[in-house]
Amino acid sequence: MPVTIENLAHVYAPGTPFEKRAIEKINLTIKDGEFIGLIGHTGSGKSTLIQHINALMLPTEGKVIVNGIDTSTPKSGLEIRKNVGLVFQYPEYQLFEETIEKDVAFGPKNLGIDEEEIRKRVHHALRLVGIDEQLFHQSPFDLSGGQKRRVAIAGVLAMKPNILILDEPSAGLDPAGRAEMRRLIKDIKNEGTTVIMVSHSMDDVSKMCDRIIVMNKGRIALDGPPCEVFKHTELLESIHLGVPAASMLRERLNKNGFDLPDDIYTIEEIKTAILEKLKRR
Ligand SMILES: Nc1ncnc2c1ncn2[C@@H]1O[C@H](COP(=O)(O)OP(=O)(O)O)[C@@H](O)[C@H]1O
Ligand SMILES: [Mg+2]
Repeated sequence: MPVTIENLAHVYAPGTPFEKRAIEKINLTIKDGEFIGLIGHTGSGKSTLIQHINALMLPTEGKVIVNGIDTSTPKSGLEIRKNVGLVFQYPEYQLFEETIEKDVAFGPKNLGIDEEEIRKRVHHALRLVGIDEQLFHQSPFDLSGGQKRRVAIAGVLAMKPNILILDEPSAGLDPAGRAEMRRLIKDIKNEGTTVIMVSHSMDDVSKMCDRIIVMNKGRIALDGPPCEVFKHTELLESIHLGVPAASMLRERLNKNGFDLPDDIYTIEEIKTAILEKLKRR
């Protein structure tokens, strides 16, 4: 289910004193099975961009094409949202049903899927996010914050999207919750889903994603595999994103004659590379 974005721009409140060009000149192609980290400072246009991919927002200029369908085609929204699931920031605030099971079933029910299939999907999604079967008939409001968020994610997963977009899924979680969220998102990706994860943690995206898209002031500043993106240390620092500690370390070592390869970006890989070099001496 490929996505093509051509010259996309979005203007909020056009023709009013509040007019705001939130994103512009966005060109992107997303292939099946990619795991993309979308990163940028607050206000850089990340949330605006992702809402165009599931047709919640329509372009002011340019085009978004999802699996061959132009999102501006009248009545295409529902079809597109069947395939592109969007988990909003703080999705736990959108839970509302009296039991966890009913809450997760809400989305697939709206798609007109039969009862037995819904039950299967709901249970699969809840197991995937690590919610115990004993909890299925309890109120979602009695759960911890992290659990609530996972139930909300299960609600989107139960619609079996081919593309899953998560807006800042780790926001507000403690380190243990963040680690759990990273594991969960990796599991989802391993089931074959294309994942787009919005984040402002370079460490998170560098650990997880195959491709990083950096946004700045409504435009794409960098787009490529982590090793390519992290070469642009100065640009990243100028837009206050910084570089993961390991990339910084590699760069400093190389300035002092170490000659470590560009495509390593964890402390562990740097250690291995240094040991290799020492062995060869
Ligand atoms: N509903 C809106 N009305 C007017 N301006 C908006 C609206 N939503 C976002 N903006 C503006 O558009 C720009 C991009 O916002 P957003 O896409 O939310 O960025 P991010 O998700 O990267 O923080 C910001 O300047 C923001 O203030
Ligand atoms: Mg946002």
